[in-house]
Amino acid sequence: MARIFIIGATGGVGNRLCKRLTQAGHDVTGLHRKPEQADHLSALGVTPIEGDIMTLTAHDLEPMLEAHDVVVFSAGAAGSGMERTARIDGEGPREVAEAMQRAGVSRFYLVSAFPEAGRGREPNPGFENYMLAKKEADAFVARSALDWVILRPGTLTDEEGNDQITAGYALSYGSVSRDHVAQTLAALIDMPQIKREIIELTDGNTRVSDALDALRRDL
Ligand SMILES: NC(=O)c1ccc[n+]([C@@H]2O[C@H](COP(=O)([O-])OP(=O)(O)OC[C@H]3O[C@@H](n4cnc5c(N)ncnc54)[C@H](OP(=O)(O)O)[C@@H]3O)[C@@H](O)[C@H]2O)c1
Repeated sequence: MARIFIIGATGGVGNRLCKRLTQAGHDVTGLHRKPEQADHLSALGVTPIEGDIMTLTAHDLEPMLEAHDVVVFSAGAAGSGMERTARIDGEGPREVAEAMQRAGVSRFYLVSAFPEAGRGREPNPGFENYMLAKKEADAFVARSALDWVILRPGTLTDEEGNDQITAGYALSYGSVSRDHVAQTLAALIDMPQIKREIIELTDGNTRVSDALDALRRDL
């Protein structure tokens, strides 16, 4: 069983991932920014640790991440402004990647976004800033020596999952349920052979385990 640190543990994807990982017997720590979120995480069997990605540096994160095997970054500014997006979605993963290298933690799962997201819509500076932040974070992590996986989901929905996805290196754009994102992350964590890969994800027609087995066979 792995010791897993989740950044964004209280979010739509992160919360679903916490449930799956604790139920599978993993030892999970969840970062939260509001004191009142601690009880909810504890009730899921997650060890809560308070911190705000707006201000946490690699130096602050290093001791938090020590003694973990895996880090998941599924935090996001969720449209709360350009400055917050640049910091949380853009610089956040970079601070985390640096902290992991200092702490000797090698396995990093970063939730990013499809580069094609928003195509066909009116250009919007806030969205452009978001996409730039995601891409810069991906580029930084992909250049690192970590055993990273960058997962790029399509538009997220709250549909109940049915274990039917499409996962690949280059997909047509689509939507994907947060449940499927969490299920795919949990399955990837159980497949350490898949590493240093950027994987796109939508709802589809292949079971999660089969879709990831096919990717693993391609390696
Ligand atoms: N929406 C989409 O269609 C879409 C598409 C592709 C990729 N994504 C990405 O997928 C990821 C997961 O999305 P989601 O729907 O699960 O997001 P979400 O529900 O908005 O959750 C975001 C998480 O980040 C945390 N967070 C925000 N600011 C923080 C801070 N300053 N310090 C620490 N934690 C902070 C939130 O904490 P609180 O609970 O305190 O708010 C929450 O746990 C995000 O990275 C998002 O950008 C989204």
